[in-house]
Amino acid sequence: MLAFNEHTAQSIDNYIEALFVPGDPVLEANIDRADEAGLPPIQVTANQGKFLYLLVKIAGARRVLEVGTLGGYSTTWMARALPEGGRLITLEFSPKHAEVATANLAAAGLADVVEVRVGDAAVSLQAMVDAGEAPFDFIFLDADKSGYVKYLDLVMQLSRSGTVILADNIIRNGAVLEENPVEAYDIGAKRYNAVLAADERLESLALPMFKDKIDGIVISRVK
Ligand code: SAH
Ligand code: DHB
Ligand code: MG
Repeated sequence: MLAFNEHTAQSIDNYIEALFVPGDPVLEANIDRADEAGLPPIQVTANQGKFLYLLVKIAGARRVLEVGTLGGYSTTWMARALPEGGRLITLEFSPKHAEVATANLAAAGLADVVEVRVGDAAVSLQAMVDAGEAPFDFIFLDADKSGYVKYLDLVMQLSRSGTVILADNIIRNGAVLEENPVEAYDIGAKRYNAVLAADERLESLALPMFKDKIDGIVISRVK
């Protein structure tokens, strides 16, 4: 038996990846292009990508919404899980990140499946609500953690009974255990977890996940 520490946590993640997540040239090129363009290396892990992919399939989702695109790594995982005719809309504040993502998605053969919308996610989401956009089946929040509560309020207006809402980075290396976290993203993640737990419209559970750091994804289902 191994002692549970940073090293063994990473070994376990690597073991799972080696077994269940074979290397993929398109996904590797996606990360390389993001690195070369100087984007921060904050994509979901390969195992988390596979997790998102499986959940999109299990949910039978045809319409997916992502908040926070970066270079389109998580986007690629989710878009690949869609059936013929499925669509994914992803929202990104940074024009530079959106440009890298657009190139990556084209290289992945997903240009016709994914639409990247540039701008502050709160503004884009409000515009979608105002336009009477049809409800999404699956929603992934992964932009600024300080905005998660605001994004939840908006994406609830783009949901139906059974919509699955996921949010990344809600453990933040344990910072959410602190009574009064200091960093804006830690405060945002902690508040989001508390808001979800109290929201009678949802059933939720946070899942700890780890690689080089301990983080996690919280999963909610609209009643
Ligand atoms: N989902 C990506 C990682 C996203 S990183 C993946 O796993 O591959 C977070 C992204 O959110 C960054 O690209 C950042 O520019 C974007 N972002 C930050 N604030 C935002 C906002 N207010 N609206 C939209 N996107 C935002
Ligand atoms: C950070 C990590 C993320 O996965 C993300 O989506 C945004 C920010 C971070 O570590 O700052
Ligand atoms: Mg993230």
